[in-house]
Amino acid sequence: MAAPIRFDGKVVLVTGAGNGLGKQYALDFAQRGASVVVNDLGGNFKGEGSGTRAADVVVNEIKAKGGKAVANYNSVEEGEKLVQTALENFGKIDVIVNNAGILRDRSFARISDTDWDLIQKVHLRGAFQVSRAAWPHMKKQNYGRIINVTSAAGIYGNFGQANYSAAKLGVVGLSNTLAIEGRKNNIKCNIIAPMAGSRMTETVMPPELVDALKPEFVSPLVLFLAHEDCEDSGSLFEVGAGWIGKLRWERTKGVVCRSKNTSMSPEAVRDNWDAIADFTGSQIPTSTQDSSAIMMETLRNVDSGPAKPSRRSASSGSGPDIEAAKAYKPKPIKFTYSARDVMLYALGVGSSTRAPDYLKFLYEGSEDFGVLPSFAVIPAQMGMQNIVTEGIPGMTINPAKILHGEQYVELYKPLPTSGTLTSQVSIADVLDKGSGAVILINITTFDEKKEKVCFNQFNIFAVGYGKFGGNRNSEAAKAPGKMPSRKPDSFMVETTSVDQAALYRLCGDRNPLHIDPSFAAMGGFDKPILHGLCSFGHATRHVLKKYGNNDVTTVKAIKARFAKPVLPGQTIHTDMWKEGNRVMFQCKVAESGDICLSGGYMDFHAASAASASAVPPQVSGLKSDMIFEEIGRRAKDEPGMVKKINSVFQFNITKDGKTATVWTTDMKTPGGAVYKGSPKQGKADCTLTISDDNFGDMVSGKLNGQDAFMKGLLKIQGNLMLAQKLGELFQSKANL
Ligand code: NAI
Repeated sequence: MAAPIRFDGKVVLVTGAGNGLGKQYALDFAQRGASVVVNDLGGNFKGEGSGTRAADVVVNEIKAKGGKAVANYNSVEEGEKLVQTALENFGKIDVIVNNAGILRDRSFARISDTDWDLIQKVHLRGAFQVSRAAWPHMKKQNYGRIINVTSAAGIYGNFGQANYSAAKLGVVGLSNTLAIEGRKNNIKCNIIAPMAGSRMTETVMPPELVDALKPEFVSPLVLFLAHEDCEDSGSLFEVGAGWIGKLRWERTKGVVCRSKNTSMSPEAVRDNWDAIADFTGSQIPTSTQDSSAIMMETLRNVDSGPAKPSRRSASSGSGPDIEAAKAYKPKPIKFTYSARDVMLYALGVGSSTRAPDYLKFLYEGSEDFGVLPSFAVIPAQMGMQNIVTEGIPGMTINPAKILHGEQYVELYKPLPTSGTLTSQVSIADVLDKGSGAVILINITTFDEKKEKVCFNQFNIFAVGYGKFGGNRNSEAAKAPGKMPSRKPDSFMVETTSVDQAALYRLCGDRNPLHIDPSFAAMGGFDKPILHGLCSFGHATRHVLKKYGNNDVTTVKAIKARFAKPVLPGQTIHTDMWKEGNRVMFQCKVAESGDICLSGGYMDFHAASAASASAVPPQVSGLKSDMIFEEIGRRAKDEPGMVKKINSVFQFNITKDGKTATVWTTDMKTPGGAVYKGSPKQGKADCTLTISDDNFGDMVSGKLNGQDAFMKGLLKIQGNLMLAQKLGELFQSKANL
């Protein structure tokens, strides 16, 4: 059985706890282990007078039963003093029940300024003052529960209670926003509209009802809402006589009362009146984003959309009009960028000068300066963002309820290092996944010569937009891959920087979710999260390095599904499986073991598919093989040489334009190590690519190393300066 609801170690402040409902809450909290601040001004129910007796009686009752309580006699308008009492006596504040209240009922025309002001002060300003005083303490301890008290009179209105109704509905507004702002610090705020017999209600209720509607039929809800087990926040409950119900807003589907190129008229409103108020197929908005999404949709459909409303417009509410969505052709998007953007992107997805082979992505002066293939998402992302914020004809999308599900990138040629690219956006399909709709957004990008450079498919999941009777799958969808059941053929592990998201957002996706802790909290995250496409960039680098020798020309396509977010500073572990020209990959967060990118694959052009070990098919009779065998022997005999060189070189030896063999000379390992293949540990400090013949000539001194480099016969990646040590290695004049 689940544990009983207890409050041991928790400090609870109940305002207006000297009588009625507040008294019951205070007694019940104390009975279940809480230390309770019993606040009460001690006046009459109209807010006149003051005294200590009301609070003292309750404190004494708690203490007599062995509980912990202290009295506070201030008005709730002095919120700081109430919270101070909690801090001074119990060292903290965990729970507040803003319960204190008075009544000054008058029919509207007879409400005096005092009647109005006093009611606002006690109910609304009081709840504000007490909550504000506790807020920083709750934030600091990352825990807080606030229960605010409204009334049916506030929710529905009640004759003679205009002042009270206004204040009580004000409490609902206050609570809704506290629930949003408190999310990131685990501060939850809920509201109750109680009904119980008390001195306040005995003036309006018959005595039998006052007796029957006991405060103990309300108190258990308050205790549960105050407990750490309760996950709700921003919820409103009606409670009384042991019955509890939850309230929410409901709105009709509504009607667009205007059309393109015609002005809106009161007659149009009148003529649509029944439909405006028809709750058939109603909606349940829960946020300001929900509220405004329909209006954004209307703007788009009426003003920029087709003159005739689409078959299934916002007003019909029976799911998306897929044909209208597919026919949508937004204006092409231009994206101008420079080498700076390319390098910023490389940094954004974790490239570092610590790995010399990444200089080609970070230094415009690199001989083979190039663009990471995953940069293809950058020119396209603006098109995707526009679709999300401006919407799609025939669809009502709430930008707050969409998730980036999957990404597919195809490259038709290596991305230029600068220039202006033009992207054309289209909706490939809208799929019905039950819990939501998948929108497939295709974006084709062209260069200045109008030649295709790349293609993106953004797979966007619109939560709660499914069940419209549409197709579950589509031929247009670029499906994710299936990981083989065998152990991964290789893997790569890299820790992201704590500033990774801050850096990546400078590439264009400035969603505050990735930088602003409050915004991230609103999305239910403890911290700002890394962009999914940033993890995608990391994975791209990993696979490209292991299987494409960091050669951007080898990549044909990349696909991945965003399974879980990564937090900046966490470690991405990419597992890889080679399957012909396709390398399947899957990334997990090393710290949690959670898969963050699933179903991933990178397709390589047929000729370039390499293996992770980088040992190419062996070609016999190479001059270089003999030279390296000799170097291996010398390394054993000449410890001085090993010490002097103290570097790891990788040699990619080519024959007829293709890699014929790869050798590593590792002079960092004690005693030196010379072997075929890429370095067994870590990376080479310097990688040289040269043909077998030229290598032989260079070692024998026939070919000057510097000349070879200048003529492009020798390519060097990594630490160029180390190439000066080659003479030492070859015992020749191969100096550079
Ligand atoms: P009550 O009159 O029995 O208790 C209210 C307590 O608040 C009193 O002890 C009073 O001295 C104290 N108080 C008044 N002004 C204060 C101030 N400025 N600072 C500190 N303490 C102050 O009333 P009841 O019925 O227990 O009401 C509790 C709350 O529930 C109120 O907010 C009321 O508006 C709300 N409510 C009650 C309903 C009911 O059926 N009893 C119906 C709807 C709402």
